[in-house]
Amino acid sequence: MSTAKLLLNGNDFELPLVVGTENETGVDIQKLRAESRAITLDPGYGNTGSCTSAITFIDGEKGILRYRGYPIEQIAEKASFVEVCYLLIYGHLPTQDELAEFDEKLTYHSLIHEDMKKFFEGFPPSAHPMAILSAMVASLSAYYSTTDDKRDLNIIRLLSKAKTIAAFSYKKSMGQPFIYPRNDLSYTENFLHMMFAVPAEPYVVPRVLDKALNLLLILHADHEQNCSTSTVRMVGSSQANLFASMSAGICALWGPLHGGANQRVIEMLEQIRQDGGDYEKYILKAKDKDDPFRLMGFGHRVYKNFDPRAEILKKSAGEVLTQMGIDDPLLGIAKNLERIALEDEFFVERKLYPNVDFYSGIIYRAMGIPTEMFTVMFALGRLPGWIAQWKELVEDPKMRISRPRQIYVGASERPWVPIEQRKAMTEKKPELVTA
Ligand code: CMC
Repeated sequence: MSTAKLLLNGNDFELPLVVGTENETGVDIQKLRAESRAITLDPGYGNTGSCTSAITFIDGEKGILRYRGYPIEQIAEKASFVEVCYLLIYGHLPTQDELAEFDEKLTYHSLIHEDMKKFFEGFPPSAHPMAILSAMVASLSAYYSTTDDKRDLNIIRLLSKAKTIAAFSYKKSMGQPFIYPRNDLSYTENFLHMMFAVPAEPYVVPRVLDKALNLLLILHADHEQNCSTSTVRMVGSSQANLFASMSAGICALWGPLHGGANQRVIEMLEQIRQDGGDYEKYILKAKDKDDPFRLMGFGHRVYKNFDPRAEILKKSAGEVLTQMGIDDPLLGIAKNLERIALEDEFFVERKLYPNVDFYSGIIYRAMGIPTEMFTVMFALGRLPGWIAQWKELVEDPKMRISRPRQIYVGASERPWVPIEQRKAMTEKKPELVTA
């Protein structure tokens, strides 16, 4: 077995190496503390593998992304989102029968319990749809048994009901009546139907929207370990149920440095447009160390060459807008920002490229999805990935609760000062208390 050697305070420690399918090498430090009392320190986990996984492979230097071995470019061109869900969760491409059965189950579980509709009434009209989605997904565990024998059924329930919850939250924000799913429509068509149909008129799902939605969901479906997925694994490792673990993932995704970036990209582009379209000014702001402004939709912890999802979406954004006859000035601003940033030393040196969130918002906008809902769309796409990662974790016989360590840098041991004494000290020397 190959090993790595660590020389620590004059002592040698042999550490086993773990090599993945694509020759990625990890130094296994599981026994390091027991043998040496030392731990490794890696804030932000930039260099820490928290698990082995057979779901998704990324090579950030080469811009490679594969689900279960299949390249994202081929999946994006050929697959349906439902097929991708099956592939990620069950590990193989479904046969025709498996796919038909999976699809049918997804169709028949798309209603939410009628009592849960009352929850929507409790939220203020201004509620962020991510607050609603996370609360509603956690609440599913109040309605459905979460025992192990219900695992597969709950996976179906979650995938199917999440899109209904998302569409209902939109209808609620618009003050419109909920539109129920239809059993004759596909997964993506059903979502668009629940979002955009109104009771008074027949609604035919535009083909271009269905195709674009399918692509967007596929491109977001999994991305190996990241803030939200690792949160799902962390929460799941305590044996919290599926719905609770997913709700935690949704909350982790919400932040602007992660899935919340898609909303911020459009807000940024809109701000630039309203500011006269002077994108160069914003490039300067992003480079200014004294200015907290960042170019949203740029940069990635792992991709250091290009994000293959952004490449696909850039092309798709142009096509969708053309097919829909939309001339969105934000697309022009985005392309100009990208062009300048890709030539600028600051961005080139730091390997900052457009990420998946840079162009996705322009497509969502063209589809009529409100900006506040963009991160919900990311969550809908990411659900199968989170589910697959959760399933892989809970089915691992060696699963242990996640419990990182830390290096303590606080005060050394000191005696407790009773309140009377502190009071006396305050009266005498107030600065001692505030110091
Ligand atoms: N605009 C300007 N400068 C940037 C940006 C940006 N978008 N991103 C990184 N930098 C600079 C940063 O200031 C730092 O410079 P220096 O070395 O001089 O201090 C350097 O690049 C490295 O940045 P970092 O913050 O250490 O990188 P990270 O790996 O911790 O963060 C990131 C990655 C995605 C959070 C970050 O690039 C960022 O904040 N981007 C904007 C938000 C965004 O688009 N997030 C979506 C990520 S993709 C979807 C997903 O998977 O979540």
